[in-house]
Amino acid sequence: MPEVKIAPSILSADFARLGEEIAAIDAAGCDYIHVDVMDGHFVPNLTIGPPVISALRRHTDKPLDVHLMIDPAAPYLGEYAAAGADIITVHVEADTHLHRNLEVIKGLGKKAGVSLNPSTPAQVLEPIIDDIDLVLVMSVNPGYGGQSFIPSMIAKIRQVRDMIGSRNIELEVDGGVKPENIASIVDAGADVVVAGSAVFKGNDYNATIGALRAAAA
Ligand code: DX5
Ligand code: ZN
Repeated sequence: MPEVKIAPSILSADFARLGEEIAAIDAAGCDYIHVDVMDGHFVPNLTIGPPVISALRRHTDKPLDVHLMIDPAAPYLGEYAAAGADIITVHVEADTHLHRNLEVIKGLGKKAGVSLNPSTPAQVLEPIIDDIDLVLVMSVNPGYGGQSFIPSMIAKIRQVRDMIGSRNIELEVDGGVKPENIASIVDAGADVVVAGSAVFKGNDYNATIGALRAAAA
């Protein structure tokens, strides 16, 4: 099994020093940089948009994994692609036309991801599973960093892993991932884990990312 990919969520970074923070997690060997975009409507929090993403783009060559927690997402997909996103993930609970959004993302030359809130059943993936590059299983209710992993999401991760089968789709898990639970998350089938508070809690990102990798192995 290939080593799990680590995607630090910059939601827990120092927003006053975002460029330096991105460069530091890049140097510490992260795989993706997870960017949480929130609109104060789909989720009860408001974060950043395309201008900040284009500014961040200049500080790293690592893939920018853009998690859109916005409703609607459709009118803004082009802007996020132009800003430099590599993976654009939309929520199945937002917008009306998920399949159209996925076609638009692919048409923009980006990887298309689909995210499921904790209460959304895995079966919603069935009709669109051949149209996606990534599934993002939320293991907390989206909106904030630093929440606790919801234990029943382990069964859902296994279910999504089974649905993916041999398809070339990454399974990413987001929310409450720590050295204490990462092994069970990877064992259930995660290829990529998002970690915000677990990575940014100290100043030594080599150590915090290293602790996640060691615990996963
Ligand atoms: C939650 C976000 C997550 C969050 C993860 O809405 O999508 O990416 O920042 O943070 P931790 O790892 O602290 O749960
Ligand atoms: Zn996220």
